[in-house]
Amino acid sequence: MENVFIFDHPLIQHKISLMRDKNTATKEFRELTTEVSRLMAYEVTRDLPLRTVEIETPVAVAQAKIIAGKTLALVPILRAGLGMVDGMLDLIPMAKVGHIGLYRDPETLKAVEYYCKLPEDVESRDVILLDPMLATGVSAVDAVSQLKKRNITSIKFVCVIAAPEGIENLHSTHPDVPIFCAAKDKCLNEDAYIVPGLGDAGDRLFGTK
Ligand code: URA
Repeated sequence: MENVFIFDHPLIQHKISLMRDKNTATKEFRELTTEVSRLMAYEVTRDLPLRTVEIETPVAVAQAKIIAGKTLALVPILRAGLGMVDGMLDLIPMAKVGHIGLYRDPETLKAVEYYCKLPEDVESRDVILLDPMLATGVSAVDAVSQLKKRNITSIKFVCVIAAPEGIENLHSTHPDVPIFCAAKDKCLNEDAYIVPGLGDAGDRLFGTK
């Protein structure tokens, strides 16, 4: 599928296997999420434009490359997306961080935004939207729609584990948004959990269950 990138790096796969294990405790789970996010940041930023500047090394004048153009904003979807922020910031410390929170109205089944705080200049930034689990895709689709309503035109979606249903939903609704995931799992179960997945990422990150 065009615009969908699934990572197969051995280090990423190894760490995800540790995250899946139900015996992995909160502290280790959080550390692993950070490590996987850090490794993913490397790939997700592969297409950042560069420009040439002149610098003096101790030996000679060099034409050297630095990152050019638009800057980045990370936007975790609350709450599990928070677990991916530190790893990403390790590699892109110049990024600003916004937050978006959505819940599903049980009557209308529509997503309701309960919180959104974005950097002032977010329209001119490349936005990396973060959520470790792309399950049904409902929150990812709505989060992207909310960002687009605010005139944000450059959005990438980054998750750790994706279900085929979520990829299909997000990709068909927002085909312009590249999807990066570290693993694509088999399916969703009747409770919309990813199978085999890793359980509830928020609970595992924050120790709430
Ligand atoms: N959200 C999670 O945290 N886990 C799933 O399996 C699906 C959605």
